Amino acid sequence: MSVPLLKIGAVLSTMAMVTNWMSQTLPSLVGLNETIAHGGTSEKIISALYPGPDEGWQIYSSASDADGKCVCTVVAPAQTPCGRDPRSRQLRQLTERVQNVTQSMELLDLRTSRDLQYVRDSEVLLRSVENRVKTAHSNPRSLSPKGFQDLKRSVSQLLPLLGVLDQYRADAALVIYLKEEVRNLSRVLAAIQEELGAYDYEELQQRVVLLETRLQSCMNKLGCGRLTGISNPITVRASGSRFGSWMTDAMIPSSDNRVWSMDGYFKGRRVLEYRTLGDFTKGQNFVVHLLPHPWAGTGHVVYNGSLYYNKHQSNIIVQYHLRSRVVLLQRSLGGAGYNNTFPYSWGGSSDIDLMADETGLWAIYTTIPNGGNIVIGRVDPQTLEVRQTWDTGFPKRSAGESFMICGTLYVTNSHLAGAKIYFAYHTNSSSYEYTDIPFHNQYSHISMLDYNPRERALYTWNNGHQVLYNVTLFHVIRSFGDA
Ligand SMILES: *[C@@H]1O[C@H](CO)[C@@H](O)[C@H](O)[C@H]1NC(C)=O
Ligand SMILES: *[C@@H]1O[C@H](CO)[C@@H](O)[C@H](O)[C@H]1NC(C)=O
Ligand SMILES: *[C@@H]1O[C@H](CO)[C@@H](O)[C@H](O)[C@H]1NC(C)=O
Ligand SMILES: *[C@@H]1O[C@H](CO)[C@@H](O)[C@H](O)[C@H]1NC(C)=O
Ligand SMILES: *[C@@H]1O[C@H](CO)[C@@H](O)[C@H](O)[C@H]1NC(C)=O
Ligand SMILES: *[C@@H]1O[C@H](CO)[C@@H](O)[C@H](O)[C@H]1NC(C)=O
Ligand SMILES: *[C@@H]1O[C@H](CO)[C@@H](O)[C@H](O)[C@H]1NC(C)=O
Repeated sequence: MSVPLLKIGAVLSTMAMVTNWMSQTLPSLVGLNETIAHGGTSEKIISALYPGPDEGWQIYSSASDADGKCVCTVVAPAQTPCGRDPRSRQLRQLTERVQNVTQSMELLDLRTSRDLQYVRDSEVLLRSVENRVKTAHSNPRSLSPKGFQDLKRSVSQLLPLLGVLDQYRADAALVIYLKEEVRNLSRVLAAIQEELGAYDYEELQQRVVLLETRLQSCMNKLGCGRLTGISNPITVRASGSRFGSWMTDAMIPSSDNRVWSMDGYFKGRRVLEYRTLGDFTKGQNFVVHLLPHPWAGTGHVVYNGSLYYNKHQSNIIVQYHLRSRVVLLQRSLGGAGYNNTFPYSWGGSSDIDLMADETGLWAIYTTIPNGGNIVIGRVDPQTLEVRQTWDTGFPKRSAGESFMICGTLYVTNSHLAGAKIYFAYHTNSSSYEYTDIPFHNQYSHISMLDYNPRERALYTWNNGHQVLYNVTLFHVIRSFGDA
């Protein structure tokens, strides 16, 4: 059994190698130098050394402030923005793609290492079983019937691990293939550097697209799974009233580190935007957005640079674009109850809960025809139309909160102390199950609970405290009971 475990280690280090290789070797191959600012900020700064003004791009200044916290690099486009040299522009786009792939790899690496922790934990159990078997083997009499039953139970607890190990082995092959492809790509890029213009950009671009697609499916495979555990909470800050909502952008991939905070559930219009989590923790460096329409509840979400929220005393969803500070869209969520008709157990006009997971944007609500049972709606972020719905059969007023992970809705049974994840609805198979996943509800009044797929964390607003949890996701495991 220890052999497969070693192999998992190999997968991880392979992925780390690919990530390193991509972030270090590749950029320099295409003339892009990357620096990472350390301490106080997690911003990534890219300073570019492009072929120069003749090739169509120009680079300007790079500066850091007095205490060295903020580093700012400006990469300005050429004076002729339409691009005097389309080749250079294409190359730059390509470079950006490679950068994006690099980011994805880092994410993949992070997620896998968390899953690995789960497997490592099982290793402890495995070792103790192994020891007990050894003892029983050398001295069969030492094993009582009860001891034997215990042992059998321990072994059956370990069975799901087999499925995970198989999965990892399959993923390992995929990653090795990916690595080879990246290597091939780099050869091409190196050739370009030597002989700029001598290559067919179209073909190159196509290969990058293909690579991205494969990487995406590899990530989805590794990244998604069933919720099996929730970590201890970390209190990030104590601020605001008893009820509220806070979040970061939930789209993958995104390098946006801003944090938004929306205090209260009734008629609020002030959204505070912090530059980073560090700033949010200290309550510094924020700007205020005054929304043109007030909000209801705490079910807001930031997705792909826009804030989606429920408009006060209506079932209208508003899309507010944060950078341009304008409302892009408004649309009524057909038939959805509002104005505290079908809230979660804590009330607060929490009728409509918007959220995002690995697969996109969702609305959780209910209607009179659905008899107050939770409806899951798949929302198109571009039009706010509901594309598909599922009736979960779970009464919304009996739910504390709910959140979506990998297309599965998880529902808590209360907002108070003792709450647990009690119910799960799988949109992939339109089926539900009752669950018993505990978590520590430290301040005993949760008015917001949302999953952020980018960080694989749960964000909660608990009695005026802003709290984070990590989650453990388990890969899909076939039932080994009947194998
Ligand atoms: C990148 O930066 C390093 C040191 O900062 C330098 O030695 C190297 O030449 C740079 N790469 C390119 C392609 O300019
Ligand atoms: C890289 O990712 C960013 C952020 O997701 C996106 O805006 C940009 O268009 C991507 N670049 C390319 C070339 O795909
Ligand atoms: C990489 O290039 C080699 C030689 O051109 C080719 O045999 C191999 O199939 C390529 N690998 C991938 C994954 O594209
Ligand atoms: C649906 O998703 C759940 C949770 O990720 C998983 O356990 C289940 O096997 C999936 N069902 C199908 C039919 O894919
Ligand atoms: C994210 O927003 C950009 C425009 O800002 C858009 O082009 C892109 O399609 C959006 N992506 C998703 C997944 O909604
Ligand atoms: C919403 O509820 C409040 C208080 O219950 C009530 O005064 C108001 O008329 C309702 N508004 C709508 C649009 O239903
Ligand atoms: C989640 O895990 C990451 C990486 O292991 C760790 O840095 C972070 O502190 C954890 N957060 C919580 C809330 O436990």
